[in-house]
Amino acid sequence: MKICVLTESRPGERRVALTPDIVAKLVGEGWDVCVQAGAGVAANYPDAAYVTAGAQLADGAEAALQDAAVVAKVNAPTVEEAALIPSGAIAMSFLQPGQSEEALKVMAARNVTAVSFDLLPRISRAQSMDALSSQATVSGYRAALASAEYQTKFFPLIMTAAGTVPPAKVFVMGVGVAGLRAIATARSLGAVVSAYDVRAAAKEEAESLGAKFVDLGVSAEGTGGYARELTAEEQAAQQAALAAEVAASDVVITTAAVPGRKAPVLVTTAAIEQMAPGAVVIDMAADGGGNCEPTIAGEVVRVNHALVVGLTNPPSQMPTHASFLFARNIYNLLALFGKAGEVAPDWNDEIVRATAVVRNGQASTEAIATQLGIPVAPALQPEQQGGAA
Ligand code: NAI
Repeated sequence: MKICVLTESRPGERRVALTPDIVAKLVGEGWDVCVQAGAGVAANYPDAAYVTAGAQLADGAEAALQDAAVVAKVNAPTVEEAALIPSGAIAMSFLQPGQSEEALKVMAARNVTAVSFDLLPRISRAQSMDALSSQATVSGYRAALASAEYQTKFFPLIMTAAGTVPPAKVFVMGVGVAGLRAIATARSLGAVVSAYDVRAAAKEEAESLGAKFVDLGVSAEGTGGYARELTAEEQAAQQAALAAEVAASDVVITTAAVPGRKAPVLVTTAAIEQMAPGAVVIDMAADGGGNCEPTIAGEVVRVNHALVVGLTNPPSQMPTHASFLFARNIYNLLALFGKAGEVAPDWNDEIVRATAVVRNGQASTEAIATQLGIPVAPALQPEQQGGAA
Protein backbone atom coordinates (compact mmCIF):
# COMPACT_ATOMS: atom_id res chain seq x y z
CA MET A 1 0.00 0.00 0.00
CA LYS A 2 1.13 3.50 -0.79
CA ILE A 3 2.03 6.36 1.54
CA CYS A 4 2.02 9.80 -0.06
CA VAL A 5 4.05 12.80 1.16
CA LEU A 6 2.74 16.14 -0.10
CA THR A 7 4.54 19.46 -0.37
CA GLU A 8 3.16 21.71 2.37
CA SER A 9 0.91 24.43 0.95
CA ARG A 10 0.63 26.73 4.01
CA PRO A 11 2.34 30.03 3.09
CA GLY A 12 5.87 30.15 4.52
CA GLU A 13 5.83 26.50 5.63
CA ARG A 14 9.23 24.80 5.22
CA ARG A 15 8.67 21.51 7.03
CA VAL A 16 8.01 18.15 5.39
CA ALA A 17 6.07 15.27 6.96
CA LEU A 18 8.49 12.42 6.24
CA THR A 19 12.28 12.54 6.01
CA PRO A 20 14.37 10.21 3.81
CA ASP A 21 15.60 8.05 6.74
CA ILE A 22 12.01 7.33 7.81
CA VAL A 23 11.00 6.71 4.19
CA ALA A 24 13.75 4.07 4.00
CA LYS A 25 12.37 2.36 7.13
CA LEU A 26 8.83 2.35 5.72
CA VAL A 27 9.98 0.99 2.36
CA GLY A 28 11.91 -1.71 4.24
CA GLU A 29 8.68 -2.68 6.04
CA GLY A 30 6.80 -3.14 2.77
CA TRP A 31 5.17 0.24 2.12
CA ASP A 32 5.36 2.02 -1.23
CA VAL A 33 6.20 5.68 -0.66
CA CYS A 34 5.51 8.45 -3.16
CA VAL A 35 6.89 11.94 -2.50
CA GLN A 36 5.68 15.04 -4.31
CA ALA A 37 8.80 16.37 -6.07
CA GLY A 38 10.36 19.20 -4.06
CA ALA A 39 8.43 18.39 -0.84
CA GLY A 40 11.56 18.26 1.33
CA VAL A 41 13.71 20.87 -0.38
CA ALA A 42 12.91 23.77 2.00
CA ALA A 43 13.82 21.53 4.96
CA ASN A 44 17.11 20.48 3.31
CA TYR A 45 15.93 17.03 2.24
CA PRO A 46 16.48 16.96 -1.54
CA ASP A 47 14.48 14.79 -3.94
CA ALA A 48 17.53 12.61 -4.62
CA ALA A 49 17.68 11.58 -0.94
CA TYR A 50 14.09 10.31 -1.12
CA VAL A 51 14.86 8.36 -4.31
CA THR A 52 17.90 6.79 -2.62
CA ALA A 53 15.61 5.86 0.29
CA GLY A 54 13.37 3.96 -2.12
CA ALA A 55 10.58 6.49 -2.78
CA GLN A 56 8.97 7.32 -6.09
CA LEU A 57 8.73 10.99 -7.02
CA ALA A 58 5.57 12.52 -8.52
CA ASP A 59 5.04 15.91 -10.10
CA GLY A 60 2.26 17.75 -8.32
CA ALA A 61 -0.21 16.81 -5.58
CA GLU A 62 -2.71 15.08 -7.85
CA ALA A 63 -0.15 12.62 -9.25
CA ALA A 64 1.36 12.01 -5.80
CA LEU A 65 -2.04 11.25 -4.26
CA GLN A 66 -3.10 8.72 -6.87
CA ASP A 67 -3.96 5.38 -5.17
CA ALA A 68 -2.58 6.59 -1.81
CA ALA A 69 -3.70 4.57 1.23
CA VAL A 70 -2.02 6.99 3.68
CA VAL A 71 -1.35 10.71 3.24
CA ALA A 72 1.33 12.30 5.44
CA LYS A 73 1.25 16.08 5.96
CA VAL A 74 2.35 18.56 8.62
CA ASN A 75 -0.52 21.03 8.19
CA ALA A 76 -4.16 20.17 7.56
CA PRO A 77 -5.01 19.38 3.93
CA THR A 78 -6.56 22.31 2.09
CA VAL A 79 -10.04 21.85 0.64
CA GLU A 80 -8.45 21.32 -2.78
CA GLU A 81 -6.04 18.68 -1.42
CA ALA A 82 -8.84 17.00 0.53
CA ALA A 83 -10.84 16.66 -2.67
CA LEU A 84 -7.96 14.72 -4.25
CA ILE A 85 -7.38 12.24 -1.40
CA PRO A 86 -8.57 8.80 -2.52
CA SER A 87 -11.74 7.51 -0.88
CA GLY A 88 -10.94 5.23 2.07
CA ALA A 89 -7.45 6.66 2.63
CA ILE A 90 -6.02 7.79 5.99
CA ALA A 91 -4.77 11.40 6.14
CA MET A 92 -2.42 12.23 9.05
CA SER A 93 -1.45 15.78 10.03
CA PHE A 94 -2.14 18.55 12.51
CA LEU A 95 -5.78 19.35 11.84
CA GLN A 96 -6.93 21.89 14.40
CA PRO A 97 -10.51 20.67 13.83
CA GLY A 98 -11.87 24.13 14.68
CA GLN A 99 -9.91 25.66 11.82
CA SER A 100 -10.18 22.93 9.17
CA GLU A 101 -13.93 22.63 8.97
CA GLU A 102 -14.36 22.72 5.20
CA ALA A 103 -11.49 20.28 4.51
CA LEU A 104 -12.86 17.92 7.18
CA LYS A 105 -16.32 18.04 5.60
CA VAL A 106 -14.79 17.13 2.23
CA MET A 107 -12.79 14.27 3.80
CA ALA A 108 -15.88 13.00 5.65
CA ALA A 109 -17.87 13.01 2.39
CA ARG A 110 -15.07 11.08 0.68
CA ASN A 111 -14.88 8.47 3.44
CA VAL A 112 -11.32 9.54 4.29
CA THR A 113 -10.10 8.84 7.84
CA ALA A 114 -8.73 12.18 9.11
CA VAL A 115 -6.14 11.69 11.85
CA SER A 116 -5.12 14.70 13.91
CA PHE A 117 -2.00 15.04 16.05
CA ASP A 118 -3.74 17.83 17.97
CA LEU A 119 -5.98 15.27 19.66
CA LEU A 120 -3.31 12.80 20.73
CA PRO A 121 -3.82 11.89 24.41
CA ARG A 122 -0.91 13.12 26.58
CA ILE A 123 -0.18 9.65 28.00
CA SER A 124 3.20 7.91 28.39
CA ARG A 125 2.58 5.42 25.56
CA ALA A 126 1.86 8.28 23.14
CA GLN A 127 5.03 10.26 23.82
CA SER A 128 6.92 8.95 20.78
CA MET A 129 3.99 10.04 18.57
CA ASP A 130 3.51 13.41 20.21
CA ALA A 131 4.02 15.95 17.45
CA LEU A 132 2.56 18.72 19.64
CA SER A 133 5.49 18.17 22.01
CA SER A 134 8.17 17.72 19.36
CA GLN A 135 7.16 20.89 17.55
CA ALA A 136 6.74 22.81 20.83
CA THR A 137 10.32 21.84 21.69
CA VAL A 138 11.48 23.44 18.47
CA SER A 139 9.28 26.50 19.10
CA GLY A 140 10.62 27.10 22.60
CA TYR A 141 14.22 26.87 21.43
CA ARG A 142 13.49 29.17 18.49
CA ALA A 143 11.69 31.70 20.73
CA ALA A 144 14.67 31.94 23.07
CA LEU A 145 17.10 32.37 20.17
CA ALA A 146 14.86 35.01 18.57
CA SER A 147 14.79 36.92 21.85
CA ALA A 148 18.61 36.94 21.94
CA GLU A 149 18.76 38.11 18.31
CA TYR A 150 16.43 41.07 18.96
CA GLN A 151 18.32 42.02 22.14
CA THR A 152 20.99 44.70 22.00
CA LYS A 153 22.60 43.26 25.16
CA PHE A 154 24.56 40.13 26.10
CA PHE A 155 22.64 37.24 27.67
CA PRO A 156 25.49 35.97 29.92
CA LEU A 157 27.32 37.72 32.70
CA ILE A 158 30.64 38.74 31.14
CA MET A 159 33.65 39.93 33.10
CA THR A 160 36.15 41.90 31.05
CA ALA A 161 39.02 44.24 31.79
CA ALA A 162 36.74 47.07 30.70
CA GLY A 163 34.04 46.17 33.16
CA THR A 164 31.43 43.57 34.08
CA VAL A 165 28.30 43.08 32.00
CA PRO A 166 25.34 41.86 34.07
CA PRO A 167 23.32 38.88 32.75
CA ALA A 168 20.04 39.46 30.91
CA LYS A 169 16.82 38.88 32.84
CA VAL A 170 14.46 36.60 30.91
CA PHE A 171 10.88 35.96 32.04
CA VAL A 172 9.11 32.94 30.50
CA MET A 173 5.32 32.74 30.82
CA GLY A 174 3.67 29.40 30.18
CA VAL A 175 5.84 26.50 31.36
CA GLY A 176 4.61 23.69 29.09
CA VAL A 177 6.86 21.87 26.64
CA ALA A 178 7.80 25.05 24.73
CA GLY A 179 8.28 27.14 27.87
CA LEU A 180 10.59 24.56 29.43
CA ARG A 181 12.72 24.49 26.27
CA ALA A 182 12.80 28.30 26.22
CA ILE A 183 13.96 28.31 29.86
CA ALA A 184 16.68 25.73 29.15
CA THR A 185 17.88 27.60 26.07
CA ALA A 186 17.94 31.03 27.75
CA ARG A 187 19.77 29.51 30.73
CA SER A 188 22.32 27.87 28.45
CA LEU A 189 22.95 31.27 26.89
CA GLY A 190 23.69 32.56 30.39
CA ALA A 191 20.53 34.53 31.21
CA VAL A 192 18.94 34.75 34.65
CA VAL A 193 15.50 33.22 34.10
CA SER A 194 12.20 33.51 35.94
CA ALA A 195 9.04 31.68 34.93
CA TYR A 196 5.30 31.65 35.53
CA ASP A 197 2.42 29.24 34.92
CA VAL A 198 -1.01 28.56 36.38
CA ARG A 199 -0.39 24.80 36.83
CA ALA A 200 1.14 23.78 40.15
CA ALA A 201 3.36 21.10 38.53
CA ALA A 202 5.09 23.78 36.45
CA LYS A 203 6.88 25.22 39.50
CA GLU A 204 9.02 22.15 40.14
CA GLU A 205 9.72 21.69 36.42
CA ALA A 206 10.82 25.32 35.95
CA GLU A 207 12.98 25.19 39.07
CA SER A 208 14.63 21.95 37.94
CA LEU A 209 15.95 23.90 34.94
CA GLY A 210 17.30 26.68 37.12
CA ALA A 211 14.50 29.23 36.75
CA LYS A 212 13.00 31.18 39.65
CA PHE A 213 9.24 30.51 39.76
CA VAL A 214 6.93 33.51 40.14
CA ASP A 215 4.11 32.14 42.28
CA LEU A 216 0.90 34.19 42.28
CA GLY A 217 -1.07 31.53 44.11
CA VAL A 218 -3.49 31.15 41.16
CA SER A 219 -4.11 27.50 40.32
CA ALA A 220 -5.97 26.71 37.10
CA GLU A 221 -5.51 23.02 36.42
CA GLY A 222 -7.77 21.76 33.65
CA THR A 223 -8.19 18.23 32.34
CA GLY A 224 -5.56 16.03 30.64
CA GLY A 225 -2.67 17.99 32.21
CA TYR A 226 -3.73 21.20 30.46
CA ALA A 227 -4.61 24.55 32.02
CA ARG A 228 -8.21 25.77 32.15
CA GLU A 229 -9.27 29.18 30.91
CA LEU A 230 -9.16 31.85 33.65
CA THR A 231 -12.24 33.88 34.51
CA ALA A 232 -12.14 37.57 33.49
CA GLU A 233 -11.48 38.55 37.13
CA GLU A 234 -8.67 36.02 37.52
CA GLN A 235 -7.11 37.19 34.26
CA ALA A 236 -7.22 40.87 35.28
CA ALA A 237 -5.67 40.03 38.68
CA GLN A 238 -2.97 37.96 36.95
CA GLN A 239 -2.13 40.75 34.50
CA ALA A 240 -1.79 43.26 37.34
CA ALA A 241 0.37 40.95 39.46
CA LEU A 242 2.70 40.11 36.55
CA ALA A 243 3.26 43.74 35.48
CA ALA A 244 6.16 44.35 37.91
CA GLU A 245 8.01 41.19 36.78
CA VAL A 246 7.48 42.19 33.13
CA ALA A 247 8.80 45.72 33.74
CA ALA A 248 11.94 44.34 35.44
CA SER A 249 12.78 41.95 32.56
CA ASP A 250 15.03 42.50 29.54
CA VAL A 251 13.19 39.73 27.71
CA VAL A 252 9.70 38.29 28.08
CA ILE A 253 8.84 35.06 26.25
CA THR A 254 5.17 34.04 26.29
CA THR A 255 3.98 30.54 25.36
CA ALA A 256 0.65 30.19 27.22
CA ALA A 257 -2.13 28.22 25.58
CA VAL A 258 -5.43 26.58 26.52
CA PRO A 259 -6.60 23.84 24.10
CA GLY A 260 -9.49 24.86 21.88
CA ARG A 261 -9.47 28.47 23.12
CA LYS A 262 -7.92 31.73 21.97
CA ALA A 263 -4.54 32.29 23.66
CA PRO A 264 -4.95 33.95 27.10
CA VAL A 265 -3.80 37.58 27.31
CA LEU A 266 -1.17 37.68 30.06
CA VAL A 267 0.63 40.93 29.29
CA THR A 268 -1.09 44.28 28.80
CA THR A 269 0.16 47.16 26.67
CA ALA A 270 0.43 49.20 29.90
CA ALA A 271 2.84 46.61 31.38
CA ILE A 272 5.03 46.63 28.26
CA GLU A 273 5.11 50.43 28.34
CA GLN A 274 6.95 50.14 31.68
CA MET A 275 9.78 48.01 30.21
CA ALA A 276 13.26 49.51 29.87
CA PRO A 277 14.77 50.71 26.56
CA GLY A 278 15.88 47.74 24.44
CA ALA A 279 13.44 45.30 26.04
CA VAL A 280 12.11 42.51 23.85
CA VAL A 281 8.86 40.53 24.09
CA ILE A 282 8.62 37.32 22.05
CA ASP A 283 5.02 36.18 21.77
CA MET A 284 5.11 32.53 20.75
CA ALA A 285 1.32 32.35 20.97
CA ALA A 286 0.89 34.88 18.13
CA ASP A 287 -0.70 32.29 15.80
CA GLY A 288 -3.34 31.60 18.45
CA GLY A 289 -4.25 35.25 19.04
CA GLY A 290 -1.24 36.23 21.19
CA ASN A 291 -0.48 36.39 24.92
CA CYS A 292 0.21 40.13 24.78
CA GLU A 293 -2.30 42.89 24.02
CA PRO A 294 -0.28 44.60 21.27
CA THR A 295 0.86 41.41 19.46
CA ILE A 296 0.36 41.26 15.70
CA ALA A 297 1.15 37.83 14.22
CA GLY A 298 4.17 37.94 11.93
CA GLU A 299 5.06 41.54 12.83
CA VAL A 300 7.40 43.41 15.15
CA VAL A 301 5.53 46.17 17.00
CA ARG A 302 7.20 48.93 19.03
CA VAL A 303 5.49 49.74 22.34
CA ASN A 304 7.19 52.70 24.02
CA HIS A 305 10.82 51.41 24.44
CA ALA A 306 10.11 47.72 23.80
CA LEU A 307 9.77 45.51 20.73
CA VAL A 308 6.91 42.99 20.66
CA VAL A 309 7.60 40.16 18.21
CA GLY A 310 4.58 38.13 17.05
CA LEU A 311 6.34 34.86 16.25
CA THR A 312 4.43 32.80 13.66
CA ASN A 313 4.97 29.12 12.95
CA PRO A 314 8.32 28.93 14.80
CA PRO A 315 8.97 25.23 13.99
CA SER A 316 9.04 26.14 10.32
CA GLN A 317 12.03 28.39 11.04
CA MET A 318 14.04 25.28 11.97
CA PRO A 319 12.57 22.94 9.37
CA THR A 320 15.32 20.31 9.25
CA HIS A 321 15.03 19.12 12.83
CA ALA A 322 11.34 20.01 13.13
CA SER A 323 10.75 17.61 10.19
CA PHE A 324 13.21 15.06 11.62
CA LEU A 325 11.09 14.86 14.79
CA PHE A 326 7.71 15.11 13.04
CA ALA A 327 8.63 12.22 10.71
CA ARG A 328 9.38 10.03 13.73
CA ASN A 329 6.05 11.01 15.30
CA ILE A 330 4.21 10.02 12.09
CA TYR A 331 6.12 6.74 11.87
CA ASN A 332 5.22 5.81 15.45
CA LEU A 333 1.55 6.80 15.11
CA LEU A 334 1.26 5.03 11.76
CA ALA A 335 2.28 1.80 13.49
CA LEU A 336 -1.13 1.86 15.24
CA PHE A 337 -2.95 2.37 11.93
CA GLY A 338 -1.11 -0.17 9.78
CA LYS A 339 1.68 -2.74 9.76
CA ALA A 340 4.02 -4.30 7.21
CA GLY A 341 2.77 -2.10 4.40
CA GLU A 342 -0.96 -2.74 5.10
CA VAL A 343 -3.56 -0.40 6.62
CA ALA A 344 -5.18 -2.11 9.64
CA PRO A 345 -6.20 0.32 12.42
CA ASP A 346 -6.82 -1.06 15.87
CA TRP A 347 -10.09 0.73 16.63
CA ASN A 348 -10.02 -0.35 20.25
CA ASP A 349 -6.79 1.55 20.87
CA GLU A 350 -7.51 4.78 22.73
CA ILE A 351 -4.86 6.64 20.72
CA VAL A 352 -6.39 5.52 17.40
CA ARG A 353 -9.87 6.48 18.57
CA ALA A 354 -8.84 9.87 19.93
CA THR A 355 -6.86 10.96 16.89
CA ALA A 356 -9.22 9.73 14.14
CA VAL A 357 -11.41 12.84 14.09
CA VAL A 358 -13.46 11.61 11.16
CA ARG A 359 -13.88 8.07 9.80
CA ASN A 360 -16.53 6.33 7.71
CA GLY A 361 -18.13 9.76 7.23
CA GLN A 362 -18.69 9.98 11.00
CA ALA A 363 -17.14 12.18 13.68
CA SER A 364 -15.28 10.93 16.76
CA THR A 365 -17.09 13.28 19.17
CA GLU A 366 -20.48 14.99 19.48
CA ALA A 367 -18.78 18.41 19.31
CA ILE A 368 -17.05 17.64 16.00
CA ALA A 369 -20.22 15.99 14.64
CA THR A 370 -22.20 19.15 15.39
CA GLN A 371 -19.52 21.37 13.93
CA LEU A 372 -19.32 19.40 10.68
CA GLY A 373 -23.02 18.51 10.43
CA ILE A 374 -22.29 14.76 10.21
CA PRO A 375 -23.30 11.86 12.47
CA VAL A 376 -21.23 10.87 15.47
CA ALA A 377 -19.59 7.42 15.30
CA PRO A 378 -21.30 4.82 17.51
CA ALA A 379 -19.41 3.63 20.57
CA LEU A 380 -17.15 0.74 19.65
CA GLN A 381 -17.88 -2.74 20.93
CA PRO A 382 -15.09 -5.06 22.11
CA GLU A 383 -15.76 -7.51 19.24
CA GLN A 384 -14.86 -4.74 16.77
CA GLN A 385 -11.25 -4.87 17.89
CA GLY A 386 -8.90 -4.67 14.92
CA GLY A 387 -11.77 -4.01 12.47
CA ALA A 388 -11.09 -2.28 9.17
CA ALA A 389 -11.59 1.48 8.74
P1 NAI B 1 0.09 24.11 26.17
O1 NAI B 1 0.80 24.37 24.89
O2 NAI B 1 -1.34 23.70 26.13
O3 NAI B 1 0.18 25.42 27.08
C1 NAI B 1 1.44 25.98 27.40
C2 NAI B 1 1.47 26.37 28.86
O4 NAI B 1 0.64 27.53 29.06
C3 NAI B 1 0.93 25.30 29.81
O5 NAI B 1 1.94 24.96 30.73
C4 NAI B 1 -0.26 25.98 30.48
O6 NAI B 1 -0.41 25.59 31.83
C5 NAI B 1 0.12 27.45 30.37
N1 NAI B 1 -0.99 28.39 30.55
C6 NAI B 1 -2.25 28.33 30.08
N2 NAI B 1 -2.96 29.40 30.48
C7 NAI B 1 -2.12 30.18 31.22
C8 NAI B 1 -2.26 31.41 31.90
N3 NAI B 1 -3.41 32.08 31.93
N4 NAI B 1 -1.18 31.89 32.56
C9 NAI B 1 0.00 31.22 32.54
N5 NAI B 1 0.20 30.06 31.91
C10 NAI B 1 -0.85 29.54 31.26
O7 NAI B 1 0.89 23.06 27.05
P2 NAI B 1 1.76 21.81 26.60
O8 NAI B 1 3.16 22.20 26.46
O9 NAI B 1 1.09 21.16 25.48
O10 NAI B 1 1.65 20.89 27.90
C11 NAI B 1 0.33 20.60 28.43
C12 NAI B 1 0.44 19.50 29.48
O11 NAI B 1 0.70 18.25 28.87
C13 NAI B 1 1.51 19.70 30.52
O12 NAI B 1 0.97 19.32 31.76
C14 NAI B 1 2.60 18.76 30.10
O13 NAI B 1 3.41 18.35 31.16
C15 NAI B 1 1.76 17.62 29.57
N6 NAI B 1 2.44 16.77 28.62
C16 NAI B 1 2.35 15.40 28.78
C17 NAI B 1 2.95 14.57 27.86
C18 NAI B 1 2.81 13.09 28.03
O14 NAI B 1 2.72 12.60 29.12
N7 NAI B 1 2.75 12.35 26.93
C19 NAI B 1 3.70 15.08 26.73
C20 NAI B 1 3.74 16.52 26.66
C21 NAI B 1 3.11 17.32 27.58
